Amino acid sequence: MKLIEAQNYDEMSKLAAKIIIEQVQTKSNSVLGLATGGTPIGTYQHLIKDFTQNKTSYEQVITLNLDEYIGLEKDNPQSYSYYMKEQLFKHINIPENQTYLPSAKSVQDEEAGRNYEKLIDSLGGIDMQILGIGENGHIGFNEPGTSFSSTTSIVKLADSTREANARYFTKMEDVPTHAISMGISTIMKSRKIVLLVSGVKKAPILNQLFHTDVKEDLPASILKKHLDVTIIADQEALSILK
Ligand code: F6R
Repeated sequence: MKLIEAQNYDEMSKLAAKIIIEQVQTKSNSVLGLATGGTPIGTYQHLIKDFTQNKTSYEQVITLNLDEYIGLEKDNPQSYSYYMKEQLFKHINIPENQTYLPSAKSVQDEEAGRNYEKLIDSLGGIDMQILGIGENGHIGFNEPGTSFSSTTSIVKLADSTREANARYFTKMEDVPTHAISMGISTIMKSRKIVLLVSGVKKAPILNQLFHTDVKEDLPASILKKHLDVTIIADQEALSILK
């Protein structure tokens, strides 16, 4: 794992955007794996700024998101579908039908995961996957204990994850209990992975990640086995490690 140290959130975001822009400039039909949550918002803002100023084109790019809540309609402001449209897609020239998020009709919809896997394969796999990390070490919504061989499937969210994400909802009961998420083996098949880590709340898990063995209790630890992982972390996130 290559570690890039950034001074702060904005520098982390700029560096991440630069890596994504280089990927798209090198391969105009890149398949990008994208994440939601608070961490990549600044990265998306820098992509938008670059698109406006330099016209980097996303006309042939395909995006596949990591995860989506179950039980929220696409136009629900809390859905990841809505988030992606607002934070990125509507500001750049990517055709809507080239942007994919997993979706499941219900928690019983077992076909949904298999279909997303088939979709990823049919698109030739993911060239570059952007990841955030949960305070409990999750990647995607693969909570601690998830098998490293997991593929896209319906997952129950850990209470701590629901609490961490409650800030976007009016009340805790509104936070969905389940999501559909790429699995760990799905993520590991990506040719390149960029993990973004920002803020003091992520300092303990980033420190653990560097000091632990690869184990299912810390899902992100599997990244140590991937040949092309870049971690971009800001000083607050690095405050225990350093
Ligand atoms: C989001 C995702 C999650 C987040 C993680 C960190 O698509 O899959 O793994 O990356 O929960 O979230 P933030 O960035 O809000 O701290």
